[in-house]
Amino acid sequence: MSPQFLGRCPECGNWDTLVEQISKVTGRGFNKKEVKKSIKESEIINISDIEKQQFARLSSNIAEFDRVLGGGVVLGSLVLVSGDPGIGKSTLLTQLALNITAVGPASPIGTLYVAGEESAQQIKLRADRIKPKASLAVLNETDVDVIAAVIEQVRPPLVIVDSIQTLETTDLESVAGSVGQVRESAHRLQKLAKKLHVPIMIVGHVTKEGTVAGPKTLEHVVDVVLSLEGDPVSQFRILRTTKNRFGPTDEVGIFEMEEQGMVEVKNPSQIFLDEQVNAPGSAVVATLNGLRPILLEIQALVTKSSLPIPRRVGTGIDNNRLQLLVAVLSKRLNLPLFDQDIFVNVTGGLKVTEPAADLAICMAIISSFRDKPLLKKSIFIGEVGLLGELRSIRQLDKRASEAKKLGFTKVISPANAKSLTEAVKLVLANV
Ligand code: TYD
Ligand code: MG
Repeated sequence: MSPQFLGRCPECGNWDTLVEQISKVTGRGFNKKEVKKSIKESEIINISDIEKQQFARLSSNIAEFDRVLGGGVVLGSLVLVSGDPGIGKSTLLTQLALNITAVGPASPIGTLYVAGEESAQQIKLRADRIKPKASLAVLNETDVDVIAAVIEQVRPPLVIVDSIQTLETTDLESVAGSVGQVRESAHRLQKLAKKLHVPIMIVGHVTKEGTVAGPKTLEHVVDVVLSLEGDPVSQFRILRTTKNRFGPTDEVGIFEMEEQGMVEVKNPSQIFLDEQVNAPGSAVVATLNGLRPILLEIQALVTKSSLPIPRRVGTGIDNNRLQLLVAVLSKRLNLPLFDQDIFVNVTGGLKVTEPAADLAICMAIISSFRDKPLLKKSIFIGEVGLLGELRSIRQLDKRASEAKKLGFTKVISPANAKSLTEAVKLVLANV
């Protein structure tokens, strides 16, 4: 605690770690009398006395978006949509805004789009691309208290705040975008959402560090965290739930960024495998995202290296995992990979973090190294252990049935191969 801003914390000695807060002492009077009063007023409730009720939800009319939220936006919830700049957050939320219109005399306007970053003119340009001659209520304002007053007055069915980093309250002296301002603004919006039963969605940019003034400080304050991910060069975008107080996490929605905004991808597996050819270095895996199996192609290219330390480059997979798998392949299958450059890529610009993709990564590398395609119509699911053994993974049946649906006839998994060696024997002759 310090009454004024200090660049360096006198206690821990670190720079730039002090965060401005509203003083309880000078601000609202934090004395014993006050505390006693609040205890008297608050009520202790037994949960058995509470009647269970379904959370009322508002549908966005975008099926993928609703599913990620667990069936629509819960009224009175504060939802954070985070993601890198330029990934499409404003586009997706504008689409959402245009889909939710006025809901009767209590809220005569449709969604209220609070724009702190862009002018109404820019919002119009974007909205017109999505839906020509669209109608949308825009508020160009950054003072969170003014915004709260407007929301209280007009009672929109949904509020979108783009972005939280531009909001500020005059009760704090620090600049907009600082940790203190971002946190305080989010707190005020959270209270307002609960009081008025209005869902509020806020956009949060991921800063380079990922922590300072970024969504990380916000995650505790909000009810739901959605993150929009994707490779900027690819048109696919994944909307993922990482926190949800009203539904499942780990759910994903897949979109394609097109001229007219984000288009839902209803059958992702089919699209991701559309261009797959049975060439050396290609292996297909069934990943599981939330409850949904998605088939992806993993490609590997193994070539003779001209460098003293050959390269291992993974795009869409963890590089450390790749190093480990290459070491297992060298040791357990005696593959002379020590002088080979190895590149592994997940097609479609997607990321795979599941160990279930280990086997497909290994098979793609082996196939490229031997320059032989893997058995046609086969799919690979399994974690690879350090001893070269295949380890079981969750929901194998679900993944296998999705693969069968898409015409894969051979599923290689811990169910029919106990080790990498056995898996290789099943799909690569004469190795
Ligand atoms: P934007 O939603 O502004 O990203 P964010 O709010 O996350 O920073 O959109 C980023 C990119 O999307 C921008 O370069 C233009 C492109 N875009 C489309 O491809 N199609 C569209 O319909 C729109 C509105 C934008
Ligand atoms: Mg934006």
